[in-house]
Amino acid sequence: MTSLADKLVPESVKKLIPYQSARRIARGMTNKQDHLWLNANELETCCQYGDEKQGVNSHYNRYPDFLPFDIAAAYRDYCEQFQLDSKNEDGRLNANVEIMAVRGADEAIDLLVRAFCQPGNDQILVCPPTYGMYEFCADSMGVKTAVVPLTAEFQLNLPQIEAELENTSIVFLCSPNNPTGNTLYSQDLLALLESTKDQSLVVVDEAYIEFAPQTSVLHLMAQYPHLIVVRTLSKAFGLAAIRVGFLIADQSVMSYVARLVAPYPIADPSAEIALKALDSAGLIQMKAQTDSLIEIRDWFSYEVSQLSIVDKVYPSCTNFVLIRFKGSNNFYEYLLNKGIVARSPANESTVKGCVRISIGSASSMNKTLQVLKEYT
Ligand SMILES: Cc1ncc(COP(=O)(O)O)c(C=O)c1O
Repeated sequence: MTSLADKLVPESVKKLIPYQSARRIARGMTNKQDHLWLNANELETCCQYGDEKQGVNSHYNRYPDFLPFDIAAAYRDYCEQFQLDSKNEDGRLNANVEIMAVRGADEAIDLLVRAFCQPGNDQILVCPPTYGMYEFCADSMGVKTAVVPLTAEFQLNLPQIEAELENTSIVFLCSPNNPTGNTLYSQDLLALLESTKDQSLVVVDEAYIEFAPQTSVLHLMAQYPHLIVVRTLSKAFGLAAIRVGFLIADQSVMSYVARLVAPYPIADPSAEIALKALDSAGLIQMKAQTDSLIEIRDWFSYEVSQLSIVDKVYPSCTNFVLIRFKGSNNFYEYLLNKGIVARSPANESTVKGCVRISIGSASSMNKTLQVLKEYT
């Protein structure tokens, strides 16, 4: 049966023969250690840089896994436990759902645009204010972007999205959304999944999902094979520096993305840290960190909302808050001059003049609050 992915994929990607990496041949071999591995122009002897205790680990002379299946398997377990915890259902992901570990959610977004959009022909659709990388990736490849702004409540404008679907290969949604901090209504997501079924892939970027686990769309993947979920270890897991993210998609989608992914995407040191973060002790730590961050966020939001300079603190399901100040003074600049680097979201009219502040430690947020209180 022809899938939507088959229909959307450009001929150039369909024809691609995946790069044959040096590690692929090892897959499935039971007696790997009996062979001399002289096929990848690696140094066969192990090197030790630095002193013996702090030096670079000696096994780094070999290329890593072509696609790191152990991290993908650990993430699958995490997703299944995540589903059990948040939905009380049989947590298993559908057998057709595959997981790929990539270099951050950003690489997942980039791969999807490359796999399913033909420059000059296809378009993606975004709903700003939202994460800027979707449009950036499309721009960088000469792929058009259709823009359907979120409503005043930062929700989907379904009639307008539906009117734009014709040449749209991918609809990129973000829930919880950056920079607004809210989640999209589940009934709207369902309605959109129904109307896009034979038309466009739908990506839901769940980079911040650990801060609102009940709202994940993972459980809908069995029913909607054109739904793709993007995740990351950069946010709740606190591992932005290791650059590990995940693409979760039906096998029909993944078979094309896998042709484009760079060989050996995850460096060994990152893979080792990711596996630790996803083991049972790592998950307990992540959950405790998340609970504590939510407590600080809610305290900070409340305190800031009481200041006379503040018009509104938008409710947040993430690790940041979006603040609208009264009047037209530039609070982003004010904070910067005081040594606090926040973010002023791009020029979307609905968030113009707002400041997005990441939630840090209690002491960082206390300092930020004091600086705002001192504003005259
Ligand atoms: C919504 C969203 N998606 C993806 C990313 C990028 O994640 P990663 O660090 O995994 O590339 C970010 C980073 O800020 C984000 O806000």
